[in-house]
Amino acid sequence: MITVVITTWPNHPRRVSYCEQTLRSLQRNLSATGHELRWLLSAESQAAEDAPWSGPMLQERAERLGLQVQWRDAPPSLPGHLNDIVRSLTTPLWFYVQDDWELIRPLDLGPAADLLLARDELGGVRFWANTGYVGQFEGFAVVDPAAAWSYGDNPALWHRRFFERVGPFDVGGWFGHHEEAASARWGTSGLCVLADPAVQRHAAHYFFHLGEMSSIPGDVRFGHGERRRDAAWQRIEPDCVPKTNAAEWHITYRCDLACTNCNRLCFLPPTTPDMTLEDARDFVRQAKDLNWSPELAILGGEPTLHRDLFELLAIANELSPGRVTIWSNGFRADARRQLDRIRSEGLAQICEGTLKPSGSIIHPQNDFFIAPMDFNVPERTPCFLHCRSGCGVSVDSGGYTLCPLGGAIDSVLDTKLRTRRLADLFDPVFAQYQTRAMCRLCGHELHIDSLRISQSQVLHGSLMSPTWQQAVHRIHKCRQQREPSP
Ligand SMILES: C[S@@+](CC[C@H](N)C(=O)[O-])C[C@H]1O[C@@H](n2cnc3c(N)ncnc32)[C@H](O)[C@@H]1O
Ligand code: SF4
Ligand code: SF4
Repeated sequence: MITVVITTWPNHPRRVSYCEQTLRSLQRNLSATGHELRWLLSAESQAAEDAPWSGPMLQERAERLGLQVQWRDAPPSLPGHLNDIVRSLTTPLWFYVQDDWELIRPLDLGPAADLLLARDELGGVRFWANTGYVGQFEGFAVVDPAAAWSYGDNPALWHRRFFERVGPFDVGGWFGHHEEAASARWGTSGLCVLADPAVQRHAAHYFFHLGEMSSIPGDVRFGHGERRRDAAWQRIEPDCVPKTNAAEWHITYRCDLACTNCNRLCFLPPTTPDMTLEDARDFVRQAKDLNWSPELAILGGEPTLHRDLFELLAIANELSPGRVTIWSNGFRADARRQLDRIRSEGLAQICEGTLKPSGSIIHPQNDFFIAPMDFNVPERTPCFLHCRSGCGVSVDSGGYTLCPLGGAIDSVLDTKLRTRRLADLFDPVFAQYQTRAMCRLCGHELHIDSLRISQSQVLHGSLMSPTWQQAVHRIHKCRQQREPSP
């Protein structure tokens, strides 16, 4: 059993945004093969008269995510807080992370936990550290405790024994004093600190640091002179809720064509099933509850392959009469017959620009499947297609996303970023979370350079970086296992 401890400072309402981003990403990406995780959100600081306090808001959100919450009822102090945490632990291992470290890719603590439990000379494994590597230890990197702060707010898996051998964290002194003082004691403790090999190559391999301590307006532990916002804080501000008043219904990801670079990856076998009539009705119900009547594009995949297309059009017209469009490739004779009927009965406008009478085409936009995070670019702004600027939200049988391509991205990469609650897309905290997590998987409009191209591969005629290559191979493998060749 491992306790995941997330420390937060609820001394500004905006901090909620950081914290929720961190919590959601940990819940999505953190696992520990062979071990159980229990979760604890705890506050390092306490409410103070001269600073706003978002504790109740954070507590409600954390509890909604199923986290146990514990506030520190003592003067604000990181070392004092850490001491309290370690003393109250009921598990031998604890994974420590502050509330502004977003876990940007899957991390399995299992191997590091096994090693820590088996070897008495080890105290912890860090998952963010960029200095002081002095050797190798069973596949992990050894960190020199004198060269880098041994503990502190960087994400790390600690064994409780380091506390017994090194002693409690030093309370008092200037900020960082407790870390330096403890680092000095590490040397004589005989305990070793390791680092995951991936962070030796790139410190931010697993975690992206959302903010800086000094970026918290009203932080009770600092004088007014030091209360400033920095660029990192401003950077996570973009308003990501829908603005274009449009939704794109991906009623099927099946397609009779296989265009190169199709941005819904319809050259692959579909991993999300067709939308049902109930899926469509559920969207309409939720949109009406929100008093939202978007323009609707019916597409896919190839929408004319859906056996219930006409019923779906009727449901769409119930929500947005006269504002329904269909995007079809119009390739098969049957597709053209259906489009003629839709035209003559006035069920939707036919988008003439999408027709592909000669079959599959090569789309010139070829930068979608180049994941920035594969190239150590964990942060990017959304492109024009995002529903805050250019296109509609994505709707499919797996849920809703703010990027029109989001359903396809989630479908292929299995990110679990789709939500079935339409209202989530209008929640600025959720909108920002989903957007950031999705956009770092997509290279659209990032101007792919020769380095990224050289480290990518062409699959199905389309350029793909390692994250996408792995997903495509996994999909083909699953498909082969389900359908063994005769
Ligand atoms: C994904 S398709 C689905 C509907 C239908 N099968 C079709 O081709 O029109 C929706 C639209 O996205 C366009 N599209 C797909 N991949 C693209 C890419 N890489 N660059 C630009 N447009 C793309 C298609 O041409 C079409 O206009
Ligand atoms: S016809 Fe449309 S959905 Fe099918 S592969 Fe081409 S762009 Fe993609
Ligand atoms: S995921 Fe890609 S296509 Fe979607 S908004 Fe982000 S950058 Fe644009």
